[in-house]
Amino acid sequence: MATIYVDNKPYQVNPEQNLLSACLSLGLNLPYFCWHPALGSVGACRQCAVKLFMGPQDERGRLVMACLWPASEGTRLSIEHPDAVTFRAGVVEGLMQSHPHDCPVCDEGGECHLQDMTVMTGHIYRRYEYQKRTFHNQYLGPFVNHEMNRCIQCYRCVRYYRDYAGEHDLNAFLMRNAVFFGRAEDGVLESEFAGNLVEVCPTGVFTDKTLKQHYTRKWDLQMAPSICAHCGLGCNTTAGERYGTLRRIVNRYNGEVNGYFLCDRGRFGYEFVNSSERIRHPLLRRKGNLEAVSGEQAVDHLKSLIASGNKVIGIGSPRASLESNFALRTLVGPERFFAGIPEAELKLARLTIDVMAKGPVRIASLRDIERSDAVLVLGEDVMNVAPRMALSLRQSTRQAPMEVARKKGVPLWQDDAVREAGQDQKGPLYVATPGTTRLDSLAIEVLRETPDAIARLGFAVAHVLDPAAPEAPNLSPDTAGLADRIAQALRGAKRPLIVSGASCRSEAIIQAAANVAWALAKISPQTAISFTSAESNTMGLAMMDAAPLEAAFQAVGDGAAQTVIVLENDLHRRGDSNRVNDFLTRAKHLVVLDCLPNRTGSFAEVVFPAGSFAESDGTFVNNEGRAQRFFQVFVPQDPIVEAWRWLGLAAARTTEQGQGSRWKNLDDVLNAMAQEIPALKRAPEAAPESQFRMAGAKIPREPHRYSGRTAMVANVSVQEPKPPDDPDSPLSFSMEGNPNEPPGALIPFFWAPQWNSIQSVNKFQSEIGGPLKGGDPGVRLIEPAAGSSPPYFTAVPGVRPARSGLWLAVPLYHIFGSDELSARSPAVRELAPKPYAALNAQEARSLGAEAGQLIRITADSTTFELPLQIAGGLPDGILGLPSGLPDFNAPSMPVPVSISRTL
Ligand code: SF4
Ligand code: SF4
Ligand code: FES
Repeated sequence: MATIYVDNKPYQVNPEQNLLSACLSLGLNLPYFCWHPALGSVGACRQCAVKLFMGPQDERGRLVMACLWPASEGTRLSIEHPDAVTFRAGVVEGLMQSHPHDCPVCDEGGECHLQDMTVMTGHIYRRYEYQKRTFHNQYLGPFVNHEMNRCIQCYRCVRYYRDYAGEHDLNAFLMRNAVFFGRAEDGVLESEFAGNLVEVCPTGVFTDKTLKQHYTRKWDLQMAPSICAHCGLGCNTTAGERYGTLRRIVNRYNGEVNGYFLCDRGRFGYEFVNSSERIRHPLLRRKGNLEAVSGEQAVDHLKSLIASGNKVIGIGSPRASLESNFALRTLVGPERFFAGIPEAELKLARLTIDVMAKGPVRIASLRDIERSDAVLVLGEDVMNVAPRMALSLRQSTRQAPMEVARKKGVPLWQDDAVREAGQDQKGPLYVATPGTTRLDSLAIEVLRETPDAIARLGFAVAHVLDPAAPEAPNLSPDTAGLADRIAQALRGAKRPLIVSGASCRSEAIIQAAANVAWALAKISPQTAISFTSAESNTMGLAMMDAAPLEAAFQAVGDGAAQTVIVLENDLHRRGDSNRVNDFLTRAKHLVVLDCLPNRTGSFAEVVFPAGSFAESDGTFVNNEGRAQRFFQVFVPQDPIVEAWRWLGLAAARTTEQGQGSRWKNLDDVLNAMAQEIPALKRAPEAAPESQFRMAGAKIPREPHRYSGRTAMVANVSVQEPKPPDDPDSPLSFSMEGNPNEPPGALIPFFWAPQWNSIQSVNKFQSEIGGPLKGGDPGVRLIEPAAGSSPPYFTAVPGVRPARSGLWLAVPLYHIFGSDELSARSPAVRELAPKPYAALNAQEARSLGAEAGQLIRITADSTTFELPLQIAGGLPDGILGLPSGLPDFNAPSMPVPVSISRTL
């Protein structure tokens, strides 16, 4: 630590920081625009000026930019010195010269960093009386709105978009004294992380276009801490509601998980919650039709099904919370609870858990991934499966150039100097996947191969690192050379990382990844591994020890089950439609709990309206085994409640133990689960229990300026209604409560006096860019077995046999389209591709087919036709089919298929 003096007071700070960051870490107020903790300093805006003194005797001092000066021992500065104050006020006056001052109609108003900084610097009167610069606004796609007149030329947007996120279609264009930030021409922003511009831009140039459709000021939102439901990474979000409509999602800082950024699927995929298709009432089938009934009638019907001696089974879901899965398991009994995913998928999820828990290797969080200095990606299209991880991997390739800067004595926050020092260098990243990925351009080398060949590469790398690991025989010279180069790069790194997962549906790939990591761990103790996981709670479900979906099919087929309860799961996404239809038809009674109608629900006898993530409390376990709690944002007017609550009601007096009936709130479910399932013992620790209070008070979901509490229901009653109770959490559905800083897992929104924008997160961190005060939210349920030395996996796949006239169909993923729920949000759906079949150009030529032409594909006994897409990167013999698109039921893959051209 170093001692610095701010306005003559001594403070202890981290000397690795710059003065701006150090002052903010101390909780002091100092205005800034161009600096961002994730982007570093460039000194573009001159807003963070302070007076710097050379020693106690120096009375004159000089103005410096705090973001460009190190917080070294003995530094003396003044934030309050009149010269600094006047300078900063002058700067903001200049920046505001052409600003339209349209706060009342600006979407950023009320949470605008420019507003905050303008007020903080005391600029209150506009002297400029001439014409302002005006600009053309562009169409940038369905997510981000553009209003260029509000720009203050801080350059954060292009620095984030180009330097941090690595995309090139947004730039700064200069003509005389006008700088324009946008695209060369109108069009959809190409980055999958473009939505972060909404938070990075300190004013209202880039704003959330989905929020615009049902706009609400930040102070009028009821907000709760939430977890993204759209992939297995579990990014932390803040979800905001008004008038029963979910209005938007913003980033909720978690230093170990998502940091400052989300992907666009997570930010803009929320609109399914507001869908007009939502199941809003319990439905009971009468004379062939599903009719709305009361919750009591539906629960009674379910109870009667259970009580009448029908053999009942339950099918869980990887997108349902731990609590809902556990409630179903309790209702039907552990041995009659099935995991709701096919055996192959369940096996792979359990294999990844085994590798993480039994091996000695660190499990990487997203922050660890950013800091890795050599990475091998084995079989994962990270951008489309676990998008936020791709942004972290991009940062990992900057570690090597940063090392160059470090050696030259350049502080790492000096963004421009670090980039100068590192030039175009990038750290070692190797990507081996069947199809092209958006990380390829960053990779040193890529391998396009079949899943088995990718696994063979992994086994070969492990063997080079440790000859005791099994070798992959008969490698081609090219692959052997590549394995050598990868092994050398990993061996030379301080923090090597292996990334893999189940996307190729290949056990061999995961085993090969484990072998590489375990071999490397003998060389570098800082080795880490990370697996993607498919859905928001795939890991949690896999830890529940349930049998796979096929066993449920078998139970109904054998007559061992007559009543089937399906929890938040469209089974048609899990396997062959004919088989699923057959299963659903054979089930004598089908009960479905879900938030949106789907094909499985159309077979149901009873449907319960399950709360989406926004109407529920629950826990997801992310890809690294971190249990994280999400909280109910609002109480819907319709009888929509958490699936676990419906199931708990049905359990009353129907189960032998009657356990569900004893649950009064979420804590009871969590505690029962922790007792019964050892692997989930620590899940309750993900967040404080419902009785937690701050100085005796609950934590308000509404900001203290929340308006219209009475007026918003004046059409019903002019009496202000009592806010709903929340028995499940320490949060209140009102503005009453203790507004001070709650524990990280309970922060409903970031706000601090004088800091209305999302930049107020600074006030909640123990150090800028570090963990939240009191620690980042969530609890790790899986930890590596330190010092263990598990035996290597030995089932190395053989060399690919000669072509037999068949192709191998492999799944291809899409950030916009492959996830079930976000794909039902209009903005995401707009960017989802139409179903297609992809072949490389040579394969297409050999078929005599052209792009767009229908080709006929036969997999097992099913034949379907799809338009051909030419995908340059696919290897010979591989057919790529989209996975998870709403309009296409892909076969279980990988699967051999025959292809013919339609006439
Ligand atoms: S658009 Fe926003 S982020 Fe970009 S330079 Fe202008 S004010 Fe800064
Ligand atoms: S990476 Fe996954 S969890 Fe994170 S915001 Fe995107 S979809 Fe959500
Ligand atoms: S924040 Fe320091 S110059 Fe912009």
